[in-house]
Amino acid sequence: MAAPTLFTSRLLLLMVTVAFALPGAGAAQLDPQQLLALRALGLAAHRAGDPCNDDAAGAPVAASCDSGKPFRRVTSLTLTNCSDTTSVSPAALDALAPSLRALAFTDCPAVPPRLLPPEQLAAGLLAFSCKSSLARLPLVWLSRLASLTELAITDTPLATGSSTSELAVLISHMSNLTTLTLSHANISGALPHHWHCANLARLDLSGNRFTGAIPDAVTLLGGITSLNLSSNALNGSIPARIGDLISLAALDLSNNSLSGGIPDTLSTLPELQVLNLGSNRLNGSIPRFLSGMKGLKEINLEGNNLDGVVPFGAGFLAKLRVFRAAGNSKLCYNTSVLTAAVAVGVAPCDKYGFPVTPPPATAQSEKSTDYDDGGGESDGNGEDSRGGPSAAVLGLAIGLSCLAFAVILVVCLCKVCR
Ligand SMILES: *[C@@H]1O[C@H](CO)[C@@H](O)[C@H](O)[C@H]1NC(C)=O
Ligand SMILES: *[C@@H]1O[C@H](CO)[C@@H](O)[C@H](O)[C@H]1NC(C)=O
Ligand SMILES: *[C@@H]1O[C@H](CO)[C@@H](O)[C@H](O)[C@H]1NC(C)=O
Ligand SMILES: *[C@@H]1O[C@H](CO)[C@@H](O)[C@H](O)[C@H]1NC(C)=O
Ligand SMILES: *[C@@H]1O[C@H](CO)[C@@H](O)[C@H](O)[C@H]1NC(C)=O
Ligand SMILES: *[C@@H]1O[C@H](CO)[C@@H](O)[C@H](O)[C@H]1NC(C)=O
Ligand SMILES: *[C@@H]1O[C@H](CO)[C@@H](O)[C@H](O)[C@H]1NC(C)=O
Ligand SMILES: *[C@@H]1O[C@H](CO)[C@@H](O)[C@H](O)[C@H]1NC(C)=O
Repeated sequence: MAAPTLFTSRLLLLMVTVAFALPGAGAAQLDPQQLLALRALGLAAHRAGDPCNDDAAGAPVAASCDSGKPFRRVTSLTLTNCSDTTSVSPAALDALAPSLRALAFTDCPAVPPRLLPPEQLAAGLLAFSCKSSLARLPLVWLSRLASLTELAITDTPLATGSSTSELAVLISHMSNLTTLTLSHANISGALPHHWHCANLARLDLSGNRFTGAIPDAVTLLGGITSLNLSSNALNGSIPARIGDLISLAALDLSNNSLSGGIPDTLSTLPELQVLNLGSNRLNGSIPRFLSGMKGLKEINLEGNNLDGVVPFGAGFLAKLRVFRAAGNSKLCYNTSVLTAAVAVGVAPCDKYGFPVTPPPATAQSEKSTDYDDGGGESDGNGEDSRGGPSAAVLGLAIGLSCLAFAVILVVCLCKVCR
């Protein structure tokens, strides 16, 4: 298998070198080995000149190169929309490894690498990203890229092992990570109890199959600005020590099975702009302190089990981009403070602070329709449509009465006729 490949690449190398020897007197050319590698990865033959200098944005193979002598070398490579016959061969990775710092795949259904990454690549690569590409890329392959500062796997199912914490295995050697995105990557298991990446600023683990509680260890990631654990199967309560993440600007824990109350420690997050706790099983009341948090722009608490009176004034809600609290059957709003148009999907309170009627199932306000996705619909529907069944029962009762009346009438008429 290897011998013919090697032979072909030698031959191609020879041809390329010859081709370059003729006009190549001026600026330094791309390293011929690396040019071959780019060819193998789908660089079109007619772009023989210099893949580094072309305005390649959007091209299937886009590279940036250093200005080395005698040859320039590829430092950053993006493969987009490649054909499904493309394969990320060990030979190509070997050739690129010495200089490559960033590697990205987008919509690239190529065959993922089988062997472990070459050591030079593992030592030098700083950014790796993969969006809808390289399906079933082995998690253990990724785990070798220990120098990464940015790792982003999106809409790509990984080939995982069966470890109890697949994520812990993946990141065990990546001490320099600042951005970690593993979104819709089909990873399961528990969240790690130890993080070795002190500089992590953005963590997005949304849309996987993580189970168990959110460990306190997450709250030791002091520099984190954005934490997204949405759409997993996490349970237990929100750790009170979430208040230690003092740089947090966006917290998205929506669409899990989290229970208990909304922790008071959220009030200690001065930078918080987005708070999404929708579609969980949170109970207790909505904390009043949220209205004192000046930076807040989005609050989503829909589809939970929250109770009591919405503690916000109209002025505060008017300043929010998103406010959602529908689908909390025991929650209500004070009619002398708010209107139904603002507290969409929330029932008005009676004078004791309990919901008077089932929440209106209709009228979506501008604010809610702007904010797409309908995250809490699954949980909300049960509550919102309570008007439906009772109306149906009433209709049925009226129908039956009419029928009975008609029968009696017919019977009487018959008797009269005889
Ligand atoms: C992807 O490539 C196919 C042909 O291989 C082409 O028809 C399609 O337009 C490309 N899509 C984008 C977004 O470039
Ligand atoms: C992390 O970065 C430091 C400083 O840039 C570097 O010395 C160290 O080797 C890196 N660690 C890894 C695992 O690459
Ligand atoms: C996700 O992982 C499970 C096993 O962990 C597997 O059965 C399933 O096929 C995977 N899904 C995809 C889309 O690869
Ligand atoms: C969290 O991730 C989900 C799905 O990937 C995304 O829709 C949502 O916007 C993210 N939340 C934040 C606050 O960025
Ligand atoms: C959380 O889910 C696990 C199973 O994934 C279960 O064993 C545990 O009891 C659950 N904990 C809570 C608090 O519901
Ligand atoms: C919330 O639910 C838990 C059980 O899951 C219960 O122990 C607790 O008392 C509830 N808290 C409130 C404020 O209703
Ligand atoms: C509603 O607000 C009014 C005016 O602020 C207040 O007097 C009343 O007690 C509130 N009702 C409830 C149920 O909280
Ligand atoms: C919520 O999570 C489940 C899996 O846990 C997923 O199937 C569903 O699409 C998610 N819903 C939203 C609105 O993201």
